[in-house]
Amino acid sequence: MDQPRNESTSSNPIMRPWVEVACLVVLLGAAACSSGSGPGAGVPDVSPPAAAPEASPSPPGASGSTNRALVPATQADRGRDAFLASCTACHASGEFTASAFRRRWSTRDAADLYRLMSNTMPEDAPSSLAPERYVEIVTYILSMNGFDSSASAGPWDVATLDGISLAPLAGS
Ligand code: HEC
Repeated sequence: MDQPRNESTSSNPIMRPWVEVACLVVLLGAAACSSGSGPGAGVPDVSPPAAAPEASPSPPGASGSTNRALVPATQADRGRDAFLASCTACHASGEFTASAFRRRWSTRDAADLYRLMSNTMPEDAPSSLAPERYVEIVTYILSMNGFDSSASAGPWDVATLDGISLAPLAGS
């Protein structure tokens, strides 16, 4: 804003250090006072990005607001690959976000979904995938259904799925 004019035209060698000290003091003062003084101090305030989408950066385990599990992003990505490789001969991924699917599974937990898939799917070759693949497909399905995924979550294994309620599928 009020950028100090370049004083270098005054070629007085004694003035220069004073100018620098004065600037330093001003800078320090501005920094020190920026918390207390009102707006308009000319401090280049870095305002928060206005375009933050609805995905709020709530930390893992943010308690209370929702009981949705935080899905491990890496596993959800792998689950997508596994799904595309082994399941799309018979299924479109949209089946697993459809309201009938969500209603049916909202009274179960993730371990139930895992068991059904690992015991009966692919229909033409049940249990043919490694257990980790089925876990990953479960995380993929949850991430498609509005469970937040995060690079910091997980990793999940079969035992983890026991505690994951699918109740959020009933809403929103
Ligand atoms: C050869 C065909 C075929 C393949 C491949 C296949 N499925 Fe299925 N799947 C079916 C059939 C048939 C059903 C039972 C009818 C239905 O719900 O569509 C079914 C049902 C399901 C259900 C229950 C759906 C619900 O609405 O409750 C899930 C979950 C599922 N499959 C997951 C998978 C996954 C994950 C894979 C890949 C690892 C897979 N399926 C591969 C044929 C297949």
